[in-house]
Amino acid sequence: MRILVLGGTVFLSRAIAEAALAAGHVVTCVSRGVSGAPPPGAATVKADRSDPGALAAALAGEPSARGFDAVIDVATMSAPWVREALGVLADRAAHWTFVSSINAYADPSLRGGTVDQPTLAPLHEQPDPDSDDPDVYGAAKVASEQAVRARVGDRALIVRGGLICGAGDLSDRFGYWAERFARGGRAVVPDVPGHPMQIIDVRDLAEWIVRSAETGATGVFDGTGSRSTLSRVLEQVADAVGATDLDLVRVPPETLVSEDVAIWAGPRSLPLWLPESHWGIADRDVTASFAAGLGTRPVGETARAALERERELGTARDRRSGLTADEERAVLRAHTTG
Ligand SMILES: NC(=O)c1ccc[n+]([C@@H]2O[C@H](COP(=O)([O-])OP(=O)(O)OC[C@H]3O[C@@H](n4cnc5c(N)ncnc54)[C@H](OP(=O)(O)O)[C@@H]3O)[C@@H](O)[C@H]2O)c1
Repeated sequence: MRILVLGGTVFLSRAIAEAALAAGHVVTCVSRGVSGAPPPGAATVKADRSDPGALAAALAGEPSARGFDAVIDVATMSAPWVREALGVLADRAAHWTFVSSINAYADPSLRGGTVDQPTLAPLHEQPDPDSDDPDVYGAAKVASEQAVRARVGDRALIVRGGLICGAGDLSDRFGYWAERFARGGRAVVPDVPGHPMQIIDVRDLAEWIVRSAETGATGVFDGTGSRSTLSRVLEQVADAVGATDLDLVRVPPETLVSEDVAIWAGPRSLPLWLPESHWGIADRDVTASFAAGLGTRPVGETARAALERERELGTARDRRSGLTADEERAVLRAHTTG
């Protein structure tokens, strides 16, 4: 198949390009070329999607202008990008995949939800690209989904990604735990029994997206893994990559809050830790996705891949998410003395 990946140089879209190449497809990746290169073997087309007309101009000179068997778009937070791509490519794409997000759902507290759950009101305009408001992100995804459905709904697959983990994750969320546990000693983990967690290895999601393009699968699916708990997932990471002297110190949320530890991601955070109001985003009913062929590898494999990448990047680097060693020591002191 001839597959066009809008993206292809980082994390999920790169893994999609890799999976497509491994399956023997002819792959073209479109990016600005600032985040890196697509995998060896893929053709590169440079275009800045924030520049109207750039995508059409860049693709006009390609031999592939005659069309693609599948287009896969990961546009992160821009319905205008998605509409423009559809305008340029819809008539010459046999199958279309749009990677959306579980943030599209209106109620993040609802546990066990399916894709029929109500979504946010769409945001059709371009939001501030630097916005980190999950509702803005989710609303832009909803508008993007609607544009895809309106234009190529009969041949479209919409995958609402969950927590995507593994090598190449620029958020440093999951990689924090792999690196921290490999370092050993007393490691702070949130003491939140019953906190649900659900992750998907980037390779599993990418391979499923490529297989779905091959079979021409259509519809809306959540792209995330088996339902579990945060403590179970962290134990699996520890079992896979933890140092022999690793000691998981379970610290109650009250202590973490009083020590200014942030939830979910970012500086001074314990990544993946969610308030109960958001447990639904890590507790989706993925029965339909598994029935449609999504497969997941053991969490330990994801942890090993994440650790390998952490070591390539250098374990002493500044991370986007997690506690520094000093911050963790302060939390441990407060826990012990408090
Ligand atoms: N990470 C998660 O846990 C998670 C969860 C749910 C859903 N998702 C979704 O999963 C997808 C992740 O995609 P991803 O991992 O490939 O990362 P991404 O950051 O969403 O996409 C990056 C790709 O887009 C290209 N790009 C960025 N700006 C561009 C521009 N102005 N013009 C043209 N290309 C541009 C980048 O290359 P250049 O920078 O070189 O241009 C790169 O190839 C997204 O749709 C995201 O919303 C992620």
